[in-house]
Amino acid sequence: MPELNLILLGPPGAGKGTQAERIREDFDLAYIATGDMLRQAVAEGTPLGAEAKSYMDAGDLVPDALIIAVILERLHGGDARDGFLLDGFPRTIPQGEALGEALRGAGRDLTGVLMIDAPDEEIVRRISGRRVGPASGRVYHVEFDPPKVEGKDDVDGADLIQRDDDRPETVRKRLDVYHAQTAPLVAHYEDRGLLHRIDGTASPASVHEHVRATIATLKLEADV
Ligand code: AP5
Repeated sequence: MPELNLILLGPPGAGKGTQAERIREDFDLAYIATGDMLRQAVAEGTPLGAEAKSYMDAGDLVPDALIIAVILERLHGGDARDGFLLDGFPRTIPQGEALGEALRGAGRDLTGVLMIDAPDEEIVRRISGRRVGPASGRVYHVEFDPPKVEGKDDVDGADLIQRDDDRPETVRKRLDVYHAQTAPLVAHYEDRGLLHRIDGTASPASVHEHVRATIATLKLEADV
C-alpha cells in the first residue's frame, strides 16, 4: 500500500493544529508537530528545550540545524515509516530541501502539501482567543470553538491555558517571520506540483471537509 506523506503548511493560527486533530481521526497517519515537540522539550527541560525556549518566546524560528536533525530522525523511525502528517515543518527553504533530500535518499516521496491560509488580521483574532488543554493538547477558541464548560478541557476537565507565545506582540513577530522565511515554501512546492490551497477562513467544519476531500483524492491517486 503506497504511503501518504503529507505536509500542513500555513501561517501561525491558520488552523493547522485544529485540522490535524480531525484528519488524524480520518486517516491513519503518524502526526509530527514540531511546535508540540518543542513545547514538550521545554516542559521536560531537555537540552533541545533549553536551546529552543528563547527563540520560541521571542516568536523566532529555532535554528535549522537544531530542528532538522530531530525531525529527520523521527521520520525514519517507527510509525512514520508508513506515512506521516507534518505540521510546522518544513518552515524554511533549507528545511524543505533537507526533507526532500532525506526522503529521496530513503526512496520515498512527498504525496502533497496542504496550504491552509488566512489573512493576518483574522490570525491575530484567532490567536488572542486560543486556549489549550495542558495535558491533552486539545485546541479551543473562546468564541469560534469553545469548550463545553467555560475554561475547562472537554477531554479531562483541566483548566485551559494560553500559550506563552500567544501575546499580541509575539504574534505580530511570528507573522513577520512567517512571511519572510516560511512563505517562500509555497512557490517551492507549487513548482513541484505538490501544493493544494485550502481557504482557512471558512468554519472549522468546512475547512475540515475540504482538507479531508483533498487527502482522500490524493490517497485514491496514490493507490492506482
Ligand atoms: P507552532 O506550534 O508550530 O505554531 P504555529 O505554526 O505558529 O502554529 P499555531 O500552533 O500557532 O497555529 P495553528 O495553525 O496550528 O492554529 P490552531 O489550529 O491552533 O510553532 C511554535 C514555535 O515553535 C514557532 O514560533 C518556532 O519558534 C518553533 N518552531 C516550530 N516548528 C519550527 C520549525 N520547523 N523550525 C523552526 N522553529 C520552529 O488555530 C488557532 C486558533 O484559531 C485556535 O483557537 C482555533 O480554535 C481557532 N480556529 C482554528 N480554525 C478556525 C476556523 N476555521 N475558524 C475560526 N477559528 C478557528
